[in-house]
Amino acid sequence: MPQDAVLSVQDVDKTFTLHLQDSHQLPVLRGMTFDVPRGACVVLGGESGAGKSTVIKMVFGSYGADSGRILLSHQDAVMDLVTAQPRQVLAARRETVGYVSQFLRAVPRVPALDVVAEPLIERGVNRAAARERAGELLARLSIPERLWKLPPATFSGGEQQRVNIARGFIIERPLLLLDEPTASLDGRNRGVVIDLIRESLGHGTGMLAIFHDADVRDAVADLTVDVQSFTPVREEVLA
Ligand SMILES: Nc1ncnc2c1ncn2[C@@H]1O[C@H](COP(=O)(O)OP(=O)(O)OP(=O)(O)O)[C@@H](O)[C@H]1O
Ligand SMILES: [Mg+2]
Repeated sequence: MPQDAVLSVQDVDKTFTLHLQDSHQLPVLRGMTFDVPRGACVVLGGESGAGKSTVIKMVFGSYGADSGRILLSHQDAVMDLVTAQPRQVLAARRETVGYVSQFLRAVPRVPALDVVAEPLIERGVNRAAARERAGELLARLSIPERLWKLPPATFSGGEQQRVNIARGFIIERPLLLLDEPTASLDGRNRGVVIDLIRESLGHGTGMLAIFHDADVRDAVADLTVDVQSFTPVREEVLA
């Protein structure tokens, strides 16, 4: 992979097998190829259903790829996520790849402050210092302090999304995946997210992102990859 890349996706194919529809095959990607340089934001473009989230989930190791290579620079070595063992994928997630999904996976009974602080605590930072940093991020994202002690399950969509963003940005990993992180935020909070993204990029984090809002995309994108240019040809889809 190129020296300056944190991620190199090379010739990846992905077909879903629809088990509820007689094992019908749905080819989504053919020959997907692109790199994410360190400190750069690569934005995935393309219509709804093109396969943008699928790419992000393959890089996070949630979906397998059928062929090709997904090379990740992980702890001074190169890991191929297409062939990695589950325990290697978990190590990559701990140290190298962060993910802000579109929706918060809220754990019952855990207060928002601890949901955000957890990645720092897992890194060995003491609880008080981790909570202090979590509070700073929640305040920056305009989550009122009275909510910090409550579990996010009952928060509004936009509040949950901001908790999710705070959790995703509390530690800086070499690669951050963002799947429509600003979809239900107001303009002011979108501005905060743009600032957080720029700060992380400035520290060398590479990003692979999907943005619903053109203003956010235009503010942070260094490169755009059109996922539809890797859509399989029609004859293959019908075959
Ligand atoms: N787990 C799955 N099983 C079967 N098909 C799937 C699965 N995940 C995605 N797909 C299909 O793959 C295609 C691409 O889906 P994906 O969610 O990646 O699109 P997207 O570009 O992120 O769309 P959107 O902009 O609407 O979020 C769609 O046709 C979808 O139905
Ligand atoms: Mg999607």
